[in-house]
Amino acid sequence: MDNVATNNIVAVSGASGRTGFRIAEEALAHGQAVRLLVRPASKLPPSLARCDIRRLDFGRLSQLVEALRGCHSLVMATGARPSANLFGPFQVDTQAVQRQVQACQQVGVGRVVLVSSLCSGQFWHNLNLFGLILVCKRWGEEALEHSGLDWTIVRPGGLKETEANLEQQELVVSGADTQQQGTIPRRLVARYCLECLDTPDTIHQVLEITSQPRPAP
Ligand SMILES: NC(=O)c1ccc[n+]([C@@H]2O[C@H](COP(=O)([O-])OP(=O)(O)OC[C@H]3O[C@@H](n4cnc5c(N)ncnc54)[C@H](OP(=O)(O)O)[C@@H]3O)[C@@H](O)[C@H]2O)c1
Repeated sequence: MDNVATNNIVAVSGASGRTGFRIAEEALAHGQAVRLLVRPASKLPPSLARCDIRRLDFGRLSQLVEALRGCHSLVMATGARPSANLFGPFQVDTQAVQRQVQACQQVGVGRVVLVSSLCSGQFWHNLNLFGLILVCKRWGEEALEHSGLDWTIVRPGGLKETEANLEQQELVVSGADTQQQGTIPRRLVARYCLECLDTPDTIHQVLEITSQPRPAP
């Protein structure tokens, strides 16, 4: 470890993604200082213009180390985008996660939340037609679990773009390998990730989350 983080900056990687930008927005709304870790060509929404933006190559450990210097915590919301590159999941969901973990260890970012996926680690699953993505995600998770950091793995169900009627949804939260299906709006995943950062009981936990309509009173 070459430096000890001394402030409360929360870093969000994959902040140009549909979950990532919401994590950053929610953190800003709570008055937190937010640093965005994105690729050189990533597109960010105007709502994040006042963040500290670091553009980097996630393949370069030294760039990740520099980008994370001074941060207290990291929420990883990177993930391979669907494409013809079947190595995408290995490169992003395994290797880029491993490198982010390594960078956190080197620079003293002690608290890390990873957005993974329901069914992570499963082999016989349709989603694996895209580069064995669920296997790759598990390898990324394992790097974090063995890191010695204060980690939480959040495994959401199918992600939805809706922002409507979120208050009418209740979270279904359970431990590892307990939910096989279900969906959840990305905004609720974002809020949950930040809640985890503030909840010591979630450290060293794999948490699966979906949501469902609240029962009528
Ligand atoms: N889709 C679902 O239903 C679902 C369900 C459960 C879990 N998940 C997982 O949840 C996470 C968030 O999903 P999402 O749909 O909100 O994400 P998304 O919109 O697809 O965004 C993905 C993010 O990862 C970044 N990224 C992609 N390739 C990268 C690379 N090589 N190096 C660095 N960054 C890279 C993207 O950057 P650019 O903007 O530069 O491309 C973007 O910021 C992902 O890990 C996803 O696999 C998804």
